[in-house]
Amino acid sequence: MSLNATWKAWVSLALAMLVLHVEAAMVVKIPHYRRDLSHVDISSFMDAKSQVHGNEGEDHGPPNVPDGAQFITLPVGNNGDKIPVYWSAAPNNPKVEHVFVMMHGRLRDGDHYWTVMNNVLESARKANYHAAMKESIVVAPQMYSEKLNKGQYDDMTLAWDDVNAWESGAIATHPYGTNLTSMDALDAIVDHLSNTTAFPSMKNITMIGHGGGAQLMNRYAATGKEPPSSNIYIRYVVGDPSSSPYFTEHRPVTDTSIASIDKCDGYNTWRYGFDNYTGTLDSKLSPKDYFGRYLRRDVVNIIGLDDTKPNGDQKCMALLQGGAKRRNRNLSWWRYINMLARTNETLTGFPGNFTDLPDWSDEWVGRIGTRLAIVQNASHDAAEVFEGKIGRSALFNHYSIETGWRPSEQWLRKQ
Ligand SMILES: *[C@@H]1O[C@H](CO)[C@@H](O)[C@H](O)[C@H]1NC(C)=O
Ligand SMILES: *[C@@H]1O[C@H](CO)[C@@H](O)[C@H](O)[C@H]1NC(C)=O
Ligand SMILES: *[C@@H]1O[C@H](CO)[C@@H](O)[C@H](O)[C@H]1NC(C)=O
Ligand SMILES: *[C@@H]1O[C@H](CO)[C@@H](O)[C@H](O)[C@H]1NC(C)=O
Ligand SMILES: *[C@@H]1O[C@H](CO)[C@@H](O)[C@H](O)[C@H]1NC(C)=O
Ligand SMILES: *[C@@H]1O[C@H](CO)[C@@H](O)[C@H](O)[C@H]1NC(C)=O
Ligand SMILES: *[C@@H]1O[C@H](CO)[C@@H](O)[C@H](O)[C@H]1NC(C)=O
Ligand SMILES: *[C@@H]1O[C@H](CO)[C@@H](O)[C@H](O)[C@H]1NC(C)=O
Repeated sequence: MSLNATWKAWVSLALAMLVLHVEAAMVVKIPHYRRDLSHVDISSFMDAKSQVHGNEGEDHGPPNVPDGAQFITLPVGNNGDKIPVYWSAAPNNPKVEHVFVMMHGRLRDGDHYWTVMNNVLESARKANYHAAMKESIVVAPQMYSEKLNKGQYDDMTLAWDDVNAWESGAIATHPYGTNLTSMDALDAIVDHLSNTTAFPSMKNITMIGHGGGAQLMNRYAATGKEPPSSNIYIRYVVGDPSSSPYFTEHRPVTDTSIASIDKCDGYNTWRYGFDNYTGTLDSKLSPKDYFGRYLRRDVVNIIGLDDTKPNGDQKCMALLQGGAKRRNRNLSWWRYINMLARTNETLTGFPGNFTDLPDWSDEWVGRIGTRLAIVQNASHDAAEVFEGKIGRSALFNHYSIETGWRPSEQWLRKQ
């Protein structure tokens, strides 16, 4: 080999090593991009690209454990992964009959949400609201952002990609290589609370979410596991979510000046529809089977009628679900699930133009478990929605709940 050829070989080897080195450095530097989120949750993928999180106003310090609560972790799956929760400090486990699992919103402030739920429970008790009198505990899960909460969680704690991929039920990005989702974390909490050795009197689990937390809870109500014991009854209370998981490709908005299916890539991709939904450790069913679960389960959709600011999710995928006013998206969702199942609910005044919906009435067993409650004079505020008469009935009533306001043709014409 001539000197020149040897030199050339060295140069190309060095170049190859440099490329390898740069690639390795890239992998180490931005590990939270190692999964292509566009296949897991299209919305947080787009948010992360457009950096909408900026200064979100959340608390990134050590956990502020509220008076009356403790901060513990529960195992998720079989590989040592953990989900932290704020938990009533001195629960009388053998006597506990009812647990309220309150999911935080987009600021990931489980401590604050524990306090909100605990206050709602205490005030209902002070008002002698009989259905709030059972021995109860409050549990608030804590889901972290891998980037924005760095330093707040340890090696085995689940954390999600930015921004708020946990809201959609996506796979966590921390610990490295885990395939557990935020749905699995909620399933693990349900499993833990359904352990009849630890909680022999447990009867009711109420899973609650508001705002960003309702994004998760609205989807969990369709995809979450069945409780492992038939003694346990779960109610899902979903407050003011900004989008829903459509089970088919149909959308209520057909006015293309608002948004158009043809120009909206990903409108039916998870979290907005079921394309590319990953499933959970427990199961992966067809959208129709998930619809059946959603329809038959005790799901209370509770919305503030005054929550009309055109903010929150304004992507075309969300606009197709009922326009800029998020409240109207819920009303269209109600029309959708009732039309899909061909129920006998009165839908006068509920917006949405659905044509050619398939007939999924075989999922309807004569009564729809899902309910819609509308709180007048409440805006986008968990305490406002849950402290009133209707909110209390959704959380605590064992039988019928109050459903509040209903739209009319006349109201619809003014929208
Ligand atoms: C679903 O994921 C695959 C890759 O796994 C991707 O190629 C495809 O574009 C995704 N589809 C949608 C509708 O997002
Ligand atoms: C149920 O709770 C008991 C008592 O706390 C505990 O010993 C047991 O391991 C738990 N079972 C499961 C399946 O976690
Ligand atoms: C996670 O991995 C386990 C075991 O490898 C597998 O059974 C499960 O289906 C996976 N879950 C998801 C959501 O991919
Ligand atoms: C439902 O209405 C509430 C209250 O107006 C709003 O905050 C939320 O974004 C709406 N969600 C959907 C899916 O329409
Ligand atoms: C729908 O049908 C069920 C059972 O047939 C009945 O009990 C209920 O009152 C009906 N609801 C409405 C709104 O008509
Ligand atoms: C409803 O949608 C259909 C087809 O998508 C369209 O032809 C019709 O004009 C729409 N109706 C209204 C009132 O927008
Ligand atoms: C809502 O507020 C209006 C005006 O303040 C009042 O007239 C109405 O009675 C309130 N409705 C409810 C259900 O509180
Ligand atoms: C509690 O569980 C019972 C069934 O055991 C159910 O009838 C009731 O509606 C539940 N209450 C709430 C508030 O979810």
